[in-house]
Amino acid sequence: MCGIVAYIGHKEAYPVILKGLKRLEYRGYDSAGVALLNNGLKVYKKKGKVADLEETLVGKDLHSNIGIGHTRWATHGEPSDRNAHPHRSQSGKLAMIHNGIIENYASIKQELVNKGYHFTSDTDTEVLLNFIEDIRINNGCPLEEAVRIALKRVVGAYVIVLMDEDDPETLIAARKGSPLVIGIGKGEHFLASDASPIIEYTKEVVYVNDYELAIIKADELVLKNLGNEKVTPFITKLDMELAAIEKGGYDHFMLKEIFEQPHTIFDCLRGRMDATVGSITMSGIQQYADQLVNANRIIMIACGTSWHAGLVAEYIFEELTRIPVEVEYASEFRYRNPIVHKGDVIIAISQSGETADTLVAIESAKEKGAIILGVVNVVGSSIARTSHGGAYTHAGPEIGVASTKAFTAQLAVLTMIALKIGQMKGTIDDKRFMHLLNELNDVPEKVSLVLQQDEQLKAIAEKYKDASDFLYLGRGYNFPVALEGALKLKEISYIHAEGYPAAEMKHGPIALVDEKLPVVFVATKDAYHEKVISNMQEIKARKGKVIAVVSEGDESAKGLADDIITVPFADELIAPMINVIPMQLLAYHIGVAKGLDVDKPRNLAKSVTVE
Ligand code: M6R
Repeated sequence: MCGIVAYIGHKEAYPVILKGLKRLEYRGYDSAGVALLNNGLKVYKKKGKVADLEETLVGKDLHSNIGIGHTRWATHGEPSDRNAHPHRSQSGKLAMIHNGIIENYASIKQELVNKGYHFTSDTDTEVLLNFIEDIRINNGCPLEEAVRIALKRVVGAYVIVLMDEDDPETLIAARKGSPLVIGIGKGEHFLASDASPIIEYTKEVVYVNDYELAIIKADELVLKNLGNEKVTPFITKLDMELAAIEKGGYDHFMLKEIFEQPHTIFDCLRGRMDATVGSITMSGIQQYADQLVNANRIIMIACGTSWHAGLVAEYIFEELTRIPVEVEYASEFRYRNPIVHKGDVIIAISQSGETADTLVAIESAKEKGAIILGVVNVVGSSIARTSHGGAYTHAGPEIGVASTKAFTAQLAVLTMIALKIGQMKGTIDDKRFMHLLNELNDVPEKVSLVLQQDEQLKAIAEKYKDASDFLYLGRGYNFPVALEGALKLKEISYIHAEGYPAAEMKHGPIALVDEKLPVVFVATKDAYHEKVISNMQEIKARKGKVIAVVSEGDESAKGLADDIITVPFADELIAPMINVIPMQLLAYHIGVAKGLDVDKPRNLAKSVTVE
């Protein structure tokens, strides 16, 4: 979380940085700030969104060909002007932006306080900056050297970018654990947390690795490791168009991304599976296919929506491959001394590829000899690069903080992997294999049909927008869909919502049911359908309001449900990709009906790069 942007070159830095910060606002929007060199080092910062900062700077002389900017998701210190980045060193000569957390900041701060340093913010960033300055003054060394020495003492995660009033020709950046991309232009360089602020200027980028330091001038980029040895920058070509990161006529990114799903699922399947000849080709998985086929168990590691995709995949893998699967919250897995053996297969699922909890979990499993396969959306991201192999989800940039199209693309990839392994192991017969391949092939079209019910979902949203709680129920493959529906509603509308296995409801949550409680049933035709309808009866008998998602042509919820949404029938194993669409649209429309900023829900950030 937190977005950073920096520029050095022949352009005006401020407009480049401002536009970049707006693109990165999904990473945090508690405060924003910029530092420029214009008759000395100038720092401007403001609590709130980037637009609030922009407003305060109208009419100011902001000329500068070098600058750094930041949009914050607060960790140390409340969201406020004083805690906003960039921070200035005590001498006023240095300015720095930071994404990450310095875990041992308190002890470093104490050392500095003992030396007479005063702090103007509550942040760990200001501590690191003054620590760097203190080393520079005491050692009489160049800034680059001071940064290197300081970072050897630091515990935590960071991307930092520094500007020095006395050296208007240079930016210094370093990374460990948080992402940093450098765009290479003609006589100019662009730095950012991801490629979206860079793409309109250049497609040539360098992904900086952990423990690397970058010394950036307008026409020169030098990368070094913390041992002061030069590292050759590896230049990558971005495979992304500007249109992909703009709203394209939709009111919100979230709605755009929900509506993109027929295409994103198609793109994800395209070139990998051929339903006519019955083949699945996934090169990043192929090289680890033997380990997967012979695995005693598979562990899926993820957070949030990606964790829900893991839960669906658990059912799919166990069904098709007969390999036991465990699905772990990344944040719990890492710190409970998990049992991981050499050769164990771990599938890490992440949209951003930068989620710190997932990253540290797979790094520790990797150290124990596990094989890490990443199912990741963002190309070149940290999780993608840390994994031994895997498959990209190819959903395109997901900007809305609520994850939507990433979930369906993750399910598409995970289903293909399970089918491939099941076929190789012989745990799935040809007929079922071909049937599921055809079902997968039909998903984009079926999702398009569900999207046509947008207006109906909007009307249902209007009806229930003032509810204070929601319950989401589903069984089997639809249980994780219920969890995902509840998560979407919570984050977008701030309504308390819980997802439960439909049958588990009678063991406690049924006590919540009264005439005011909307209960969303994901009740499409599957092996447990009749039992789920009985659960619906139980809710109705207690006067709960039932919103049912059912398969086309199924009449069993009639007379029971207050509102019915029909979706095309799909095999139960494939159905979550279709059934989640009404969950996404319902949450979206309730958030909009409540007048909330659905793309930037309070307290959240898209990419959670702190543990
Ligand atoms: O980028 P990741 O998939 O690793 O992110 C994991 C979660 O932070 C993410 O899914 C989060 O729960 C979303 N806000 C859900 O909509």
